[in-house]
Amino acid sequence: MFRIPQETVDQIIQQADIVEVVGDFVTLKKKGQNMWAPCPFHHEKSPSFSVSPAKGIYKCFGCGKAGNSIQFIMDIEGLGYVDALKYLARKYAIAIEEEVTPELTQAQSEKESQYILSNFAKDYFHDMLLNHEQGKSIGLPYFKDRGLSMPTIQKFELGYSLEAWDGLTSKALAQGFKLEFLESTGLTIVKEDKKYDRFRARVMFPIHNISGRVVGFGGRTLKSNDKTPKYVNSPESEIYHKSDVLYGLYQAKQGIRSQDLCYLVEGYLDVLSLSQGGIENVVASSGTSLTEGQIKLIGRYTKNITVLYDGDAAGIKASLRGIDLILEGGLNVNVVLFPDKEDPDSYIRKVGDTAFKQYINTNAKDFISFKTELLSQEAEHNPVKKAEAIREIISSIAKIPDSIKRAVFLQRCSVIFGIEEQVLLTEYNKLMKQERQKPAAPEMPVNAPNPELTPQPEDKVAADDAILLHHEREVLRLLLNYSAHKLPEGEPFLPYLLTQLEDIEFKIPIYARLVALFQEVAKQAPLVSPDYFINYPDGEIRQEAVSLLTDKFELSENWETHQIFVPRETDMLQFAADTAVLRLKWRNVQQMIKENSELLKTEKDFTEIMKIMTLIKTLQQYEVEIGAQLGVVVVR
Ligand code: GTP
Ligand code: MN
Repeated sequence: MFRIPQETVDQIIQQADIVEVVGDFVTLKKKGQNMWAPCPFHHEKSPSFSVSPAKGIYKCFGCGKAGNSIQFIMDIEGLGYVDALKYLARKYAIAIEEEVTPELTQAQSEKESQYILSNFAKDYFHDMLLNHEQGKSIGLPYFKDRGLSMPTIQKFELGYSLEAWDGLTSKALAQGFKLEFLESTGLTIVKEDKKYDRFRARVMFPIHNISGRVVGFGGRTLKSNDKTPKYVNSPESEIYHKSDVLYGLYQAKQGIRSQDLCYLVEGYLDVLSLSQGGIENVVASSGTSLTEGQIKLIGRYTKNITVLYDGDAAGIKASLRGIDLILEGGLNVNVVLFPDKEDPDSYIRKVGDTAFKQYINTNAKDFISFKTELLSQEAEHNPVKKAEAIREIISSIAKIPDSIKRAVFLQRCSVIFGIEEQVLLTEYNKLMKQERQKPAAPEMPVNAPNPELTPQPEDKVAADDAILLHHEREVLRLLLNYSAHKLPEGEPFLPYLLTQLEDIEFKIPIYARLVALFQEVAKQAPLVSPDYFINYPDGEIRQEAVSLLTDKFELSENWETHQIFVPRETDMLQFAADTAVLRLKWRNVQQMIKENSELLKTEKDFTEIMKIMTLIKTLQQYEVEIGAQLGVVVVR
């Protein structure tokens, strides 16, 4: 299925430490034996995403995502299995000797090709900046003029695109890159039979994703009075989703973590100037207005955002929009506005690093003060305006998902405006009611159980399914956790349990697949390491295997912390297996009784009725027998 030698795969699996791999994307905190973080795959406030260094796996108890290092990279970068392996091989400097066959080149995903090409283009532009005559005489002086130092140019891998129609295109084609990918990344524009570079005579800003791979570019013209647009940006592609990328995040993420704060600016140059001035925790939503996805991205590293926008009307408008989005995302937001005609870049260059830092520290306002001040000039002597202003602020408060935080801000608002909290609350409730009446319901509250997944009491079928799921799962859990164990007498556990399952049909498809796989594997070796299943080529099997292995994560920790004595499962493995099988059989029998009783209600044919009744009788006897073995009294 894949062509990377198994040896290399094993080496990657061994070296790709789960804590390191995951740690590139979220901030893990140690608690007990495991590390915890807010889940990078779904939005949440309290961490339910755990990493077990010992087992080499992660699992989110909120959204259920789970796996090993490879699965994590597949999930977070949206890569296939082979590409994820390559990613990790690169990270750990493990050489992959691929057999380069034509099919392999072909099978190499579009994404990976785009990554490789973008990286090539980044190197090319950088090389042009530093070594080409045009770069040296036009590009570099421009950056120097804007106050950027060599280390900054290197850190952000800035570049220059020649004033030529096909500087990059011809070079890339000569190197064997396909026109298809030049076009799909937007680096080359193909029109009829002409093809030419998108970026020409511009200084180049490569845009990195959080793992540091180049996904796109911004290019700024050097001419100040021209018809050409100031910036040209890469179009969306397989690897570049603008709404989920922030300029500078790759370089800023460590700083954001350590400062527990992220500065949000508008432009590429703002990021570069601030970073050079020692404010490294800065990112820009370049090219697009701020999106929910970008806020989520920041939320993996910190819950605190300070927006640094221009003080002009457009800047204020952008700030107001940003505030509401950030609040909705469950993050805290402060705002700093700069004097008119200044942006963070021009201002830091004007006043210097120290004064700039002072300025943002003294001028950062929380959103209520910001909005209050913005609206207060006109509102002061005008009750209608004042009411409007209050409503405006309350509507922002209503966006905060956390109820305690909401209450605190309402209280603050009441103090500032000298209005009783009760009045504000009434206003707030009115607003919420309107919200609810909107056709598109707001997102479900975070962490609320998903009604589709939780059995509803009145919904008997769902409840039955949940029981079935539970019993089948327990058997699978035992198979997987103890596949390498022996019973006290020395008999391997796996065949022991599998024999008992021979006449049981698993109804959950993935479990049926797993049982079949176990049977197949056990034929060859009675003792199998769970690693075999965690690293199985099929993603569905891998995912489920990890999920089964981590089922008791939380429980066992509780046991330890409360020092409750529980006999270890390994000490009573045989009993655990027998019980699990009996419970599953018992449940299946009950289900069959129920189904046949249903049939009885509608059946008209007398002989059929007799047949069904006999069957039910037999099943009931069987139910009593199993019940007896389980120590359960069956009342009929
Ligand atoms: P300077 O004007 O050189 O200081 O650049 P800047 O990065 O500060 O740009 P500015 O503040 O004017 O704009 C902020 C961001 O908006 C830029 O970094 C770009 O991402 C984007 N932007 C600005 N002008 C254009 C444009 O003409 N086209 C596109 N697509 N994006 C633009
Ligand atoms: Mn600027």
